[in-house]
Amino acid sequence: MELLRAQKVSFTYPGTKRFVVRDLNLHIEQGETVAVIGKSGCGKTTLLRLLAGFMAPTTGEMHKDPGVRLSFVFQDARLLPWMRVGENIAVAIRHDSKAEQTRKVGDVLARVELSDAINDYPETLSGGMAQRVALARALVVTPDLMLMDEPFASLDAITKSALQDDFLKIKKTSNLSAVLVTHDVFEAVKLADRVFVMSEGALDSEVNLRDLTDIERFERAKALLVRLKNKTRDHEPDRQ
Ligand SMILES: Nc1ncnc2c1ncn2[C@@H]1O[C@H](COP(=O)(O)OP(=O)(O)OP(=O)(O)O)[C@@H](O)[C@H]1O
Ligand SMILES: [Mg+2]
Repeated sequence: MELLRAQKVSFTYPGTKRFVVRDLNLHIEQGETVAVIGKSGCGKTTLLRLLAGFMAPTTGEMHKDPGVRLSFVFQDARLLPWMRVGENIAVAIRHDSKAEQTRKVGDVLARVELSDAINDYPETLSGGMAQRVALARALVVTPDLMLMDEPFASLDAITKSALQDDFLKIKKTSNLSAVLVTHDVFEAVKLADRVFVMSEGALDSEVNLRDLTDIERFERAKALLVRLKNKTRDHEPDRQ
């Protein structure tokens, strides 16, 4: 089942002329993870905001089934400092009954292995723990599609790898779809079914990774790195 479709979507920020997203087509199927990689400033966050419906395309169309539940994971955890971990997560389901909130928060904290931190304040958490709470807050609404903006970028390599494994586990046990924006080619090939390279607002170079072994994925990552490097080189003269 198709959850979301962007059709010939272009976007300029109000008051500017430059198209930050250009003539972009993308569809997301239930259960798949699509990764978007690209250099800083190429339009990845803008694309996620458009997919989330935070902003409307300047031209083109976004189609979303009204029954599809979205959640967003930001690059920084964005926890509310005056609330405990459990309360930070409950905010996302504040319209549920107190009993439901307690059950769901307990459930989702167990999934990210943070049950013991339910009464902690954000300032006492490590970066990895805070990002786990952010993931739990996105999961607690039982989304169909998670839009993730460099969710693991601020983490050290070991924590990052552990959280990536968590994400894969969670994906296996639920029929979750995700759009993952990342700078990290190896993260993209580890987590995604399809990877796109974004360049100057356009998506190209779709790479299909479904059913590939780890070694085959690694090979694809190397090829993607070369492509990314070549793109940067092509565009260097424009930047000067
Ligand atoms: N609110 C805004 N108003 C005007 N221009 C903006 C705004 N937000 C972003 N831009 C511009 O749009 C372009 C794309 O920005 P965007 O944040 O989507 O890039 P990105 O690929 O997410 O970069 P990064 O990897 O650094 O997060 C940039 O040139 C940026 O300066
Ligand atoms: Mg960004």
